[in-house]
Order: sequence, then C-alpha cells, then structure tokens
Amino acid sequence: MFPRHAWYVACTPDEFADKPLGRTVCGEQMVFYRDGAGRAVALEDYCPHRGAPLSLGRVCEGKLVCGYHGLAMGCDGKTVSMPSQRVDRFPHIRSFPCVERYGFIWVWPGDASLADLAKIEVLPWADNPEWAYGGGLYHIACNYRLMVDNLMDLTHETYVHASSIGQKEIDDTPCDTRVEGDEVITSRFMTGIKAPPFWRMALRMNDLPDDQLVDRWQICHFTLPSHVMIEVGVALAGKGGYDAQPEFKASTLVVDFITPETDTSIHYFWGMARNFKPRDASLTTQIRNGQGQIFAEDKDMLERQQANLLRWPDRRLLKLNIDAGGVHARRVIDRQIAAEKAVIAPLANARTATESVA
Ligand code: FES
Ligand SMILES: [Fe+2]
Repeated sequence: MFPRHAWYVACTPDEFADKPLGRTVCGEQMVFYRDGAGRAVALEDYCPHRGAPLSLGRVCEGKLVCGYHGLAMGCDGKTVSMPSQRVDRFPHIRSFPCVERYGFIWVWPGDASLADLAKIEVLPWADNPEWAYGGGLYHIACNYRLMVDNLMDLTHETYVHASSIGQKEIDDTPCDTRVEGDEVITSRFMTGIKAPPFWRMALRMNDLPDDQLVDRWQICHFTLPSHVMIEVGVALAGKGGYDAQPEFKASTLVVDFITPETDTSIHYFWGMARNFKPRDASLTTQIRNGQGQIFAEDKDMLERQQANLLRWPDRRLLKLNIDAGGVHARRVIDRQIAAEKAVIAPLANARTATESVA
C-alpha cells in the first residue's frame, strides 16, 4: 500500500535518451519516452494489439512504435496507426501525468484528474548555480517504508557505515523528533567530536583542517509521499555548529526519493546537493562515488530485513525512541492513504453512474 495520488520521481532523462524506458511505479507498469515536442510521456507499458511491452519498441517521429507488429501509439494513449489496419476502435491505454522538473522525471500514478503540479516537492537548490548535485539510483528489494525508517533513524550509521560516517557519538546523543503537519523532522546535534572519514574528506575539500574537533548535525525531513531530505554537516568546534559561518563548516543536503515499485521493492534515487565549490565537477564525482558506496551498504541490510519480515509476517516489531521518526512518518503515510480512499470511492462511483447513464 502506498500513496498513489502524488508525484514520484520515476527516472532521470538520461535513462530514456536513446530508447524507451520500461519501469513499474506503485505497481503500474509504465513506459517513458519523449513525444514530438520533446516532452516526457508516461504510458501504460502495454500494446493494445497483443499485449507486448511498448518499452521494447522505438520512438519514431514522436510516436511510440510497438516492437512486435509496428502499432504506433500517441502520447494520449490512443493508437495512431498500424500497418494495413483500421485503428479507430482499438482500446486506449492509460496515459499518466508526467512532468520534467529539477532534472528528474516525475509521474503521478493515481487518478489523473487529481494531478496537481503544485504538489511536486519544491527543491530550492535545484537549478541554482550556487549549488551542485550528484546522485544515482539503486533498485532495492524492500518495502519503501523500510527505507523511510532507515533514513529517519541514523543510529544505524554507527554499525552499517562504520568505516565512513559512523561513530559511537551518534549512539550516545539522543535525537529529537517532531511532527509539523505532514512533515516529520528528526534531529541530532553532536558537539566536540572527531569527524569520521567521510566528513574529514569533506572538510579538506572545503579547504578546512581535518584534524580538529567538530560539531556535527543530522536533521532528517520526511515529506509525502516518501521523500527524505537530510541536512548534514560538520563545523569546526565552537564556531556555531549548524549556524556557523560558511568558512567554518562543510555541510550538504542528502536527497532521497523513494519510489515504490511493488510492495517489496523500490527505485531509490539518492544524491547529495552542496553549496560549496559548486563548479568543481571532480568534487561532485568524488562525493557521488563516496555516497554511492555508503548507500550500497544499506541495500544489503534492507533486502535481508525484508526477507525476514516476509518469512515471519506475524512477529511484532519494537518501537524504540530511535524509531520515532519512522513511526511518525508511517502515520503520515497511513493518513494519506486513508484520505485517498475517501476521495477515490465517491469518484469511482460517480464515474460508474455516468457510464451507466451514457
Ligand atoms: S503486440 Fe504491439 S503491434 Fe502487435
Ligand atoms: Fe544508511
């Protein structure tokens, strides 16, 4: 179960630059390509002729041509043509609201009539020349809520990421969790500690000494449907911590878009946005490589955890203080799913009534 009436990151433009991309989002099998005007399009990945996946076809003059017998599909889900056939009575396929923004392709898997562009997460750092962004994509065989739990409870860094960002002070420092509307915020502030290897590297890259004590912070923000943005950084100790002047700190924003594929798998778009040395492309690559290695460590843990939960579905999970962020985020998600059900049932009934009158 996932919120469906929401914008999810489905893919990045490079993924369908050469050929259509087949991808399942929230259980909906979709194909992504560009139409004749260069706009990103998301359709059901199903050819109305014999059910072949349209993603195995190619794009020809802005139309998606099925790779099996040449049916040409329009961006509205209506068949345009097929060799030697009349197509006017061919059934339509679904067309999903789809938009390109901030360097990502966003899709709305729910009822298209409810799609609202104003609901796309605002990313103030994107398209801003003072900021740089680098990121990647992992496919992970776990429910999306497990990844939300993971990102809203960073005590796991001490154990899963012991050689890069983990340190025992994370365990020793309690976190604070609060809920503001549909946003859940978990924060932890550590003072006068040694910086772990990843942050020593970031200090050096920011022309700061890497052998002095630092103040470190982690502020995780969960927002619907399943996004987690984490403000992270270190400042030379005693310079104001989170509020220190830029010349005393290295700070970044960890960007996590968690897009459910099925109930037990996700497309995990991870990345890091930073506002120091934004034009240094080799630094972007270096940070992305480091982050990619760190986040790969989560993949194994989450997939094995998911397998255990499927193996023992009746066992109850504990909810400790450190789990508060994930627990509150799940409540927000559950509230959203319930609200969607309340909207969609009358909508479906109204449509059925209209159809029977017609
Ligand atoms: S299955 Fe697509 S044209 Fe035949
Ligand atoms: Fe992690």
